[in-house]
Amino acid sequence: MRIATTPAMLRQELAGPRQRLVLVPTMGALHDGHLALVQRAREAAGPAGWVAVSIFVNPIQFDRPGDLANYPQPLTEDLEKCRAAGVDLVFCPDQTAMYLPDRSITVTESLLSRQLCGATRPGHFDGVCTVVIKLFNLFQADAAVFGEKDVQQLAIIRRMVRDLDLPVDIIAHPTIREHDGLAMSSRNVRLLPEHRADAPRIHRALEATRSLLRCGERNAAPFLAAARKHLEDSPFLRIDYLEMVDAETLEPIGRIQRPAVMATAVFYGEVRLIDHATLLP
Ligand code: PAJ
Repeated sequence: MRIATTPAMLRQELAGPRQRLVLVPTMGALHDGHLALVQRAREAAGPAGWVAVSIFVNPIQFDRPGDLANYPQPLTEDLEKCRAAGVDLVFCPDQTAMYLPDRSITVTESLLSRQLCGATRPGHFDGVCTVVIKLFNLFQADAAVFGEKDVQQLAIIRRMVRDLDLPVDIIAHPTIREHDGLAMSSRNVRLLPEHRADAPRIHRALEATRSLLRCGERNAAPFLAAARKHLEDSPFLRIDYLEMVDAETLEPIGRIQRPAVMATAVFYGEVRLIDHATLLP
């Protein structure tokens, strides 16, 4: 496995005859969700193609300094996991290699990022778009794999690819969960034991509303009320948002007439977790 820590090193690794290259962008602290994306990247790259992983805790997408400072960075273990998963190339730059002190150009998304996480995390998705386009350019990737877990991030990246004509195929991979239903996240290791034990209720709260769908209910309000009650029964969590939005535009909806997404973000102490359920009418 090749490892590059600067853009110049990466260019060197990529010099020579081009293979099909599929990129999995991450911030490290790799778990089985990330590794499922790596497997998917291998399928898309083929045995002779290259699977590349970037590991970079992108400072410009963090809106709370404490979250950035506490973000886990087990680089040695991450590299070992990449090696075991058959990754060909890892790019793990430090901040100074990615951002010059006088950098002055960023990518701005002005519509989809008004909703959900974007509403409570100002600048977050501009930071994501900026680093992702840099990674696409640095790797000259043919395709990139993203998790459906970050449903808004996926929609915004697809929109960036469309609006800026980026020659990269975006491949989506379903959410990987712990046995008790909690969506895998690099932030889960920061949960206190009692919070970790309570957190599967997030998935349960969203999934329980499917029975309303089966009964023919289409108004968003009863779905949101049922999920909110389930979440608010927790003595620990605080709801950041709970919303029903259109799966494509992410605009809030009152009725489920097209594929819809019920999405939530909750805080356990300082740890913020997100999850969603897709509801098909
Ligand atoms: P990170 O949170 O490390 O996630 C990297 C990729 O793994 C994202 O595409 C995310 O959706 C996916 N992922 C995370 N948990 C998952 C799970 N349980 N199941 C399936 N996929 C999962 O998302 C980011 O990093 C950053 O914003 C990034 C895109 C790398 C830009 O900095």
